[in-house]
Amino acid sequence: MGNRSDYKGTWNALAQTRPDAFLYVGGSTDEAAVDATANDTLRYLQATAGLRAEDDVLEIGCGVGRVGLILSPLVRSWTGCDCSSQMLKHAADRLAVFPTARTVEISGHDLQPIAHASMDLVYSTVVFMHLDEWDRYNYVREAFRVLRSGGRFWCDNINLLTDPGWELFETHRRAFTPEQRPTHIAKCSTPQELETYLQRAGFAEVKTRTRHLWVDAWGVKP
Ligand SMILES: C[S@@+](CC[C@H](N)C(=O)[O-])C[C@H]1O[C@@H](n2cnc3c(N)ncnc32)[C@H](O)[C@@H]1O
Repeated sequence: MGNRSDYKGTWNALAQTRPDAFLYVGGSTDEAAVDATANDTLRYLQATAGLRAEDDVLEIGCGVGRVGLILSPLVRSWTGCDCSSQMLKHAADRLAVFPTARTVEISGHDLQPIAHASMDLVYSTVVFMHLDEWDRYNYVREAFRVLRSGGRFWCDNINLLTDPGWELFETHRRAFTPEQRPTHIAKCSTPQELETYLQRAGFAEVKTRTRHLWVDAWGVKP
């Protein structure tokens, strides 16, 4: 097994082919089915951090652009960043029709190519589960840096405090010995963990909510 914090190596290996990239992003090689789930993500963002036509939007860990495809026509600009050049190749192909969409490769540990105070909304979905806790917090801090004053941050993860979240935790505990655990195996959060990261990074109006096995957390840069 590799090193969990070698995110680039892990995700480039998982996204070698387009069907595999879709499989690891959305659990299916059926592209239309995976893309259709972005409607849900759109609703979650609208109901929490909000989405505005004048927003410059950044997604951390954008994968194949599942969400970017639906958001790009709704906002001023959409930037998808990811540590995997393989994922970004698929995303860039799919997003080429939108002049205001772009993809940016990042190291896996920061948002270095993104300018300070250049975004209105930064979000990350189905990504924190694959990161170590320190790396989750590093991205929350980086999101704070790249947001304009009044900008919003939103993230999600599986919630350990829910019954289905606990079930997943138990499934993974039983399925693998420590030596067998895949480097990208999903690790849960609690609402308190995410709330703490946002507050410690400087966000105001921090809120969390649970939806089925998920927790959403969001806040505003003062
Ligand atoms: C399950 S996929 C989700 C993709 C996309 N957010 C979506 O919901 O369709 C996880 C994505 O996170 C990316 N990723 C994993 N670790 C990362 C890291 N440390 N920094 C940036 N992206 C990362 C992977 O390459 C992959 O594209």
